[in-house]
Formats: sequence, structure tokens, C-alpha cells
Amino acid sequence: MENKKVVVITGASRGIGKAIAQKFLSEGFCVVGISRSRPKCQLSFHIQADIKNEEDRKEIISKVISEFGRIDVLVNNAGVGIYDTWEDMDLGHLREIFEVDFFAPVHLTKLALPYIKKSKGTIINVSSAAGELRVPFESGYTAAKHAFHAFSETLRMEVDNYNINVITVTAGNIKTGFTLSAKGSKHPPLLPFAGKRKELADEIYKAYVKGKKKVIYPSWYKVFIFYSKLFPKGYEKIIMKIWERSFEKREDKINAQKKEHVFSSSSSVVPVKRTDRVE
Ligand SMILES: NC(=O)c1ccc[n+]([C@@H]2O[C@H](COP(=O)([O-])OP(=O)(O)OC[C@H]3O[C@@H](n4cnc5c(N)ncnc54)[C@H](OP(=O)(O)O)[C@@H]3O)[C@@H](O)[C@H]2O)c1
Repeated sequence: MENKKVVVITGASRGIGKAIAQKFLSEGFCVVGISRSRPKCQLSFHIQADIKNEEDRKEIISKVISEFGRIDVLVNNAGVGIYDTWEDMDLGHLREIFEVDFFAPVHLTKLALPYIKKSKGTIINVSSAAGELRVPFESGYTAAKHAFHAFSETLRMEVDNYNINVITVTAGNIKTGFTLSAKGSKHPPLLPFAGKRKELADEIYKAYVKGKKKVIYPSWYKVFIFYSKLFPKGYEKIIMKIWERSFEKREDKINAQKKEHVFSSSSSVVPVKRTDRVE
């Protein structure tokens, strides 16, 4: 372990974080994963922590330093979603989302910065297309990711003098269990052409090696983001139509199931599965 570069990844237990961890491990790095649950993959070291807690965040950095003495890469990846109308939004949930998606990575970055300065390392912030687009029924998540995105892009300018690179990752729809663990009831439709975690991890690693500043994956999101800025009204119409149509379809499915239940004598109601991307 002694000569290996140390990568700290939040949310490495599954999904995108797990894929990033596997990529860095396969390239010979020492990978420290952070999550509340036990990781479903091999890591060099795992720290069980809830990044919502300030004490846990301090503990993470002090444990990494006492074990390995350095931090070369910090990957702020852990995140949670919330899907609801603004009207129905639970403010407690919203605060929780901001804690995980914004305050935790911002504070971890602050704590890790002295060590990343020493190593002239890299900070990788896994943001979302929701950090660049306006997504209906995701106002809470969109607001948190916009804040995180802005933090990431601003931080880069400030730490450039220390030879630290900051990579902002704009991830589009990726196949993971993310929406299943999200709060709220207005879950988004399953968009076509979802990206693959492994491909995203490869793109992130490539950007790290080449010192790039941004990753947008799947790449067709570049067009979507550009279109949303150039034609804001057209974009709003399209995105509302897609989302509302998917809610209608879900409602039809529920009604059909209810009808089936009434007419079948023996069956018990099977809850309609949310359209989701599952690991
Ligand atoms: N999947 C997508 O379509 C998509 C699209 C755009 C952006 N993203 C972003 O990509 C990142 C990863 O998402 P994913 O799709 O891989 O989600 P995921 O499969 O649900 O994984 C989330 C990870 O975050 C960890 N985590 C959540 N809350 C935590 C907490 N309080 N403390 C410590 N760890 C916590 C989870 O571990 P534990 O539950 O064990 O703690 C898990 O390892 C997120 O920031 C998300 O916003 C995802």
C-alpha cells in the first residue's frame, strides 16, 4: 500500500461509486470507500459512516490520514434524490437531501483540502444533469445539484494555484438503484439510452489521467443541455410532456391492476412497480 495513491470515494458500496472504486482499484490505486452499509465489492479499506453527520465526516478524514497518511483523490459521489411536486415537498426531506448532496461533500472537501494540496491531487464531484437542467418534480434534487455543480465549478478556479484539478461530472440517466432509494412519489420516467456505470467510471478515470475538467455522460446530454439553454421554452414544453405522460401511464397501470383485482376472486393486490433503473 505504501507507494500507492490514495483515492477516497463516498458512496462506494454500490452504483456509480462502486464502478469508480473498481476502476481505480484495477489501475493500482489504494481505494478507501465510504458508505453506511457494507460494500458489495472489494475495496482496499472501508469506512462505515453517514456523511450527513459532521462528526462522521471528521472521523473519515482522520481515519484515512492515520491509516495511509495521504489523500490523492477525493471522489464526492454519494447522493440521494427526492421526487415530488414543490407543493407536496417535505421540508425535512429536502434538508436531508441538501445535507447529503451539498453540505457533506462541501465539508469533506474542506477537511481533505490540506492533504490534497500536499499531493497536488484531484477532486472529482459527481453531479448530475439535474445540476445543469431544470427538471420538473425534482426541484429539491435539482436545487441541491445546481448548488453542488456551482460549488465544483467555482472551487476549481480557487485551487488551480495549488495544482489541484477539480472534475465536475454531469451524469445523465445511469442504470443503478438510485431512483428506488429516492424519497417522494413523483418518480421520473425511464428515459431511453440510459448510460452504463462502468462506461461512466472509465470516462471519469480518463478525465482524471488527462487532467480534464468536465465529464458529461452519456454524451447525448451535451445536446440536451445546449438545447435547454438555447430554447428554454421548447425545452420546458418537451420535458413536461414526457414527465406527465409517464405519470399518466403509471396511473393507467395502477387502475388496470385495481380492476383486475376486483374481478379476480383469489388474487391479492400486487403493488405496481415503479418504472425504475435497477442495478
Ligand atoms: N443513477 C443516476 O441515474 C444518476 C444520474 C445523475 C447523477 N447521479 C449521481 O450519482 C451519484 C451516485 O448515484 P448512484 O446512482 O450510484 O446511486 P445509488 O446506487 O443509490 O448509490 C448511492 C451511494 O451513496 C451512498 N450514500 C447515500 N447516502 C449516504 C450517506 N448519508 N452517507 C454515506 N453514504 C451514503 C450509498 O451507500 P449507503 O446507502 O450504504 O450509505 C450508495 O453507496 C449521486 O450523487 C447521484 O446524485 C446518479
